[in-house]
Formats: sequence, C-alpha cells, structure tokens
Amino acid sequence: MKILLTGGLGYIGSHTAVELIQNGYEVVIVDNLSNSKIEVLNKIELITGILPKFYQKDVCDQHALQEIFEENKDIEAIIHFAGFKAVGESCLEPLKYYKNNIGSTLSLLNVMEKYNCKNFIYSSSATVYAVSEIMPLYEDSPLGASNPYGRTKLFNEEILKDYQTAHPDFNVIILRYFNPIGAHESGLIGEDPNGIPNNLMPYICKVAVGEFDHLKIFGNDYNTKDGTGVRDYIHVVDLAIGHAKALEKLTDGDVGLKIYNLGTGVGYSVLDIVNTFNKVNGNLVKYEFVSRRPGDIAICYASPKKAENELGFKATRNLEDMCKSSYEYQKNNH
Ligand code: WQD
Repeated sequence: MKILLTGGLGYIGSHTAVELIQNGYEVVIVDNLSNSKIEVLNKIELITGILPKFYQKDVCDQHALQEIFEENKDIEAIIHFAGFKAVGESCLEPLKYYKNNIGSTLSLLNVMEKYNCKNFIYSSSATVYAVSEIMPLYEDSPLGASNPYGRTKLFNEEILKDYQTAHPDFNVIILRYFNPIGAHESGLIGEDPNGIPNNLMPYICKVAVGEFDHLKIFGNDYNTKDGTGVRDYIHVVDLAIGHAKALEKLTDGDVGLKIYNLGTGVGYSVLDIVNTFNKVNGNLVKYEFVSRRPGDIAICYASPKKAENELGFKATRNLEDMCKSSYEYQKNNH
C-alpha cells in the first residue's frame, strides 16, 4: 500500500517513514526542506534498505501535488506532517503560519478529491487544548489554542471536521501529539531543528555536546512537585508506531473522523528530564533557574486511554530511553 508523507524528512515524519517501510508500506515523501535536510533521505535508506521516492516540493503548490498524484495514482492515504511549528515565531509572523499550515491542508484536500484518495491522517498537537488546571487531557477536553501556531492546528482540525461531514466516505484520523523527544536507536535520525532550539530536549543535547554553556530552566515557581513545568514526553519511535496503528485502522475503512491523543499519560518535570539525562549520559548538563517563558503552562499531560482501546496503541519506551537516544543522535550529528 502506497502512502504519501508530507514533511516526511522532518523529525516525526522521518521516524514514521522508517516505521511504515519496516511494516511493508511503500512510502512516498514530499518535503520542501524548509526545516529538514536532504541527508535524512539517505539515512532512511541506511536504516531500512529502501530509498523512498522523494519530491522536493511545497505542499501548498496544488499543481506540484497533482504531478505527484499523476505519477502515483495508487496513493491510498496521506499523513500530513508538513507545517511550521515554532510557537514564538508564529506570534511574530502569524500570516506566514496561516498561509503555510492552512494553505497546505486545503491544497491536499483539493487534490485528494480530484484523485479519489480518501484516507487522511493529520499531525495535530496538544496545543489545541484550552489552558486547564484539570489533568489529564481527554480528546473531548475543552479546546482553545493560545497562539497562532496552535490556532493553525485547531483550524485545520475544524476544516477536516467540516470536510468529512460533507464527504462521509472520507476517512480522517487526527493525532494530537504531546511532547515528542528521543531518536531512532540507530542514531542516524533525530531532532535537528534549525537555529537555537526552542524545545527542551534539543537544547539540553546542545549543552551536553558543548554548543551552549548551560540550560536556562524557565521558572521554578510553578505549582508542581519541584516548581518546574510538567509535560507528557513520548518517545518519537512510540509516536511513529502510533501512526502505523492509526493507518491500520484508517485503511480498515468506515472510520469517519476520529481523534486520538498520542502521549504516555505520565507527566515529567523539567528537573526530572535534566536529572535523568545527567544520570544516563554522564553529568553533562548544568542549569540555572530564570523567569517563566511567556505563554508556558504549569502542567500538561494526556489520557492515552482512547488510543489504547481503539488503536491498540500504548507507548512503551521510558524516560531513560528518550534521554539516551537523544544524546546518541546529537553526538553523531553535531
Ligand atoms: C517543555 C518544558 C518549558 C526550553 C512545545 C509546543 C508544542 C509542541 C511541543 C509542536 C516547559 C521548559 C524549555 C528551555 C525550559 N510542539 N523549557 N528551557 O512548550 O511544552 O510544547 O513543543 O507541536 O506545540 O508548544 O515544549 O520543549 O518548549 O518546553 O525550561 O530552554 O521545558 O518551560 O516547561 P512545550 P518545550
């Protein structure tokens, strides 16, 4: 079965490509390399022995998408990873985020309709949930994104709901990621953001290899066990397996539209991450407490029960695996 991955050379896309190829799918990748590197394609081949068909195109370009479908009329499903994802940048450049993240989804849906492709998995995010003191977050918890990036995810979810209502034979699974970290056991692919990392684990890894002097922990006065922010960290390989499980369900047909959290159900604090990282990799990361980062919340973690019950998906990799694999990748790629 042929599957098109948009943004398939990115962090989560590349790990999902490996998982799907190893599950026997034929994977086609479209990526404009705006936040990924062409070298990842050969890394996927090194890991799987298969070089996926690749198109360096912008998913917003409907004509380019049509050419891909003309050459691959047997694409049975699309997993849509491609999108800008820096919360801070989205506040400074909202139009760039709406044009790209919404435009790419509309472009895909139009071309899918033209080529009668009826299966769609959307890469969404925990940022679509409204700020809440009540944890864990369930798929029917109140929604309400607090920044333009999160709103593009929320608006895309609403677009998919409206489209699926108008086209009942169109099957959609929306996957809401919590905090993906870690890297493939080969050390060949992992999280490799452009510039200074916004997210915790890639920043910690850069400190560990000496690119930065120390970690700044944004706030230690939250109402949590140690005062630092608590999040639901999920290993990126578990996340990739979650996509394979969703694809299985999707291609069984008759899904309509389903939404699933992809998380572990366990919250870890920033200090849990730093201390575990230092325990498994050697005492490499110094830190200082600084003021809170605007827009951050104290605690966010998922109920993973729905994905467990309906997809047969449960994350298995632990925090030590996540910290070890992240550092292994960083050492190979800095
Ligand atoms: C985690 C914790 C920070 C960096 C974001 C996006 C979300 C999703 C995942 C795309 C928080 C603390 C961080 C640092 C720190 N991405 N931290 N020092 O903010 O939970 O979620 O990434 O879908 O959409 O919002 O992740 O890794 O930035 O922060 O202390 O240098 O680490 O305060 O408590 P976040 P994060």
